[in-house]
Amino acid sequence: MDEDRLDRVVRLPKVELHLHHEGAAPPAFIKGLAQEKSVDLSSAFAPDGSYAFRDFVHFLRVYEAATSVLETPEDYARLTSAILEESAANDVIYCETFLSPDFCGGGDLGAWREYLHAIRDAAEKAEQTHGIILRGIVTCIRHLGPERAKPAARCAAETAGDWIVGFGMAGDESRGKPKDFTYSFDMAREAGLRLTAHAGEWGGATSVRDALQDLRVERIGHGVHAIDDLSLVDMLVEKGITLEICPGSNVALKVYPSLAAHPIEKLRQRGVNVTVSTDDPPFFHSTMRDEYRNLAETFGWDEDVFAKINETAARSAFCDEDTRRRVLKRLERP
Ligand code: ADE
Ligand code: ZN
Repeated sequence: MDEDRLDRVVRLPKVELHLHHEGAAPPAFIKGLAQEKSVDLSSAFAPDGSYAFRDFVHFLRVYEAATSVLETPEDYARLTSAILEESAANDVIYCETFLSPDFCGGGDLGAWREYLHAIRDAAEKAEQTHGIILRGIVTCIRHLGPERAKPAARCAAETAGDWIVGFGMAGDESRGKPKDFTYSFDMAREAGLRLTAHAGEWGGATSVRDALQDLRVERIGHGVHAIDDLSLVDMLVEKGITLEICPGSNVALKVYPSLAAHPIEKLRQRGVNVTVSTDDPPFFHSTMRDEYRNLAETFGWDEDVFAKINETAARSAFCDEDTRRRVLKRLERP
């Protein structure tokens, strides 16, 4: 692909469905907060100032250490502004972010409302300034266990509406089973929230099947190991399940050795609803523009392929229909 075409692809308007709020925190921002609060976070950073981790479990530990300096609604408001400025600079027009009541107020509903208010306020300002639309998906954290998921689900259910639009689960997929979390997912569903869960990132196809069956989710975070079981892939197509795929994250965390070895193209070719997101961009030295550039260079994806992917993402977004129409309109090509 020539540079001009590649440049057009990289600058396309984008819809991002899978972003962790704390995971999108620029390392300099977290370092600055740590300094303000006299917290020693030096082990979380490499000499060049980026986040430092050895593997997935260590990544989760560094993530939680970095998150520990985000202590107030005001910290989250500042973080939200920083994230949305960066996302808008990557041409993202609509984004869904994962927010965890465990990190925002320790699962307490009153505190969660304060954090949410601050985050929404910052998001509204960013929408006015940059035109980017943000919506929130409340997540429970799998490795914190099902009992901690219940207050998270209650926070989600109590604040469900036009801004908190979904409920999901992140965290260490090797811990526990999806069915341990049915109580929380049922509570969220009954409150009208749409559902997603991380599965098939570290777990195999069974993990994806269990999330679909036991949590009745309509999207899967990652889901890439579905490729190991083609009957599951066919089921994803038949049921119209959307995968929130984060290729740069999967390569950085060594789920796959390279982008060329990543199954996103095979999944797309078989008709799965694939979408593209960054997960935790500064942790993985990635941006949405980087993801697009790398996919175009590796798989030859052109503007038509990305246009379809963004349309799929907009159609799979958990927002209300009026917002979806506005997003689809902005994705229309001249
Ligand atoms: N939390 C933040 N990033 C995550 C990932 N890639 N998998 C599971 N939980 C996460
Ligand atoms: Zn994720």
